[in-house]
Amino acid sequence: MLINKLSKYPKVGGDCGGNRIGLGKYIFKCPKCGYETQPEASNFTCPRCGSLMEAILVEIPKDIKLRYRRRLGVWSYSSLLPEPKHRITLNEGGTPLIRISRGLFGKFEGLNPTGSFKDRGMAVGVSLAKAIGVSNVVVASTGNTAASVSAYGARAGLRAIVLLPSGKVARGKLVQSIIHGASIMGVEGYFDDALMEAMGMFKAGKAYSLNSINAWRLEGQKSIAYEIYEDIKVPDNVIVPVGNAGNIYAIWKGFWELMQIGLIDKIPRMIGVQAEGASPLYETWRRGSSELIEVKEPKTVASAIRIGKPVNWLKALKAVNNSNGVMVTVNDEEIMIARSKLARRGVFVEPASASTYAAYVKLIKSGVISNGELTVLVLTGHGLKDPDSVK
Ligand code: F0G
Repeated sequence: MLINKLSKYPKVGGDCGGNRIGLGKYIFKCPKCGYETQPEASNFTCPRCGSLMEAILVEIPKDIKLRYRRRLGVWSYSSLLPEPKHRITLNEGGTPLIRISRGLFGKFEGLNPTGSFKDRGMAVGVSLAKAIGVSNVVVASTGNTAASVSAYGARAGLRAIVLLPSGKVARGKLVQSIIHGASIMGVEGYFDDALMEAMGMFKAGKAYSLNSINAWRLEGQKSIAYEIYEDIKVPDNVIVPVGNAGNIYAIWKGFWELMQIGLIDKIPRMIGVQAEGASPLYETWRRGSSELIEVKEPKTVASAIRIGKPVNWLKALKAVNNSNGVMVTVNDEEIMIARSKLARRGVFVEPASASTYAAYVKLIKSGVISNGELTVLVLTGHGLKDPDSVK
């Protein structure tokens, strides 16, 4: 049984109390200074130090049965998620774990409704947006988040506003936002510039943010870990491409919760991959810096993760360090070779996703991963998203 202990935590202030919109089982906790408050649907920063809050389940049920039913998608795990009255769904989740080679599996997130893992988070985030009664939602995006919010926004009857770095978004992703009827705005510069504009709209109250600053979106994404657990229990390593750095944290959090429940007794090593030309988190991790080492002009063929200033950097470092994981970089050539190799095994992914396989090859060579270990690559987006990257 979940016990609502919210009353003992102060409210951040602002929007609806968490309980009324189905957040009653959570508190917000600051990963930096430890401050705890009641959760808010649209205020994610720590009132004491300004870091992004973590959403923590106050009491995790011990008697839970995780039996996935495809028809319900991510919402199958609703006892571990926010429970807004109306759930928006396109049957996201339930993606296959495909064997690549001995000891290596790919979690093919390209088979979600809009072709990327973003749909898991968007189902939860858009449902909450609906619950708090907003009419506009906004994201900055390298393409996939935009495609996803466009589809889920359309489904929920919300206006989706997507801010894209001009000329830097893969064609397949752009046409998804167009066909789903989103309001599309081009921003000069990089994803990081688009995110600043989107945050401006959010802070001005013009639209609800569904970027990964939104802790509830990340709650949906943690279901990747639950599904891996249901298929193969606990692998030794999970390799995740890192852009804005939300997903690696979300997956770690999913495993961490399974450990709290008592279903598993260890967490896989979380391995984050960045492209050499866009590796702020890798550099921050490698130098043990307590400040994010930003990359001003990120460059890589993997446009999905061409990000220089990941907002979730602190949460991602927590995931890597807490799980005894590592960060690693791969270059564009390694990414494209890895992509071809996966395709020759029948799995067509976009370049950012292929970075995981390139990292695996590199880490096997350097002995960080040994042959007998069980490794899962999180293949985050479908290859059809970025047809122009196929030469
Ligand atoms: N892989 C793909 C295919 C992505 O689209 C993204 C992020 C990532 C990996 C990285 O995930 O940001 O949680 O570290 N795409 C975002 C977008 C930035 O706008 O679609 P992350």
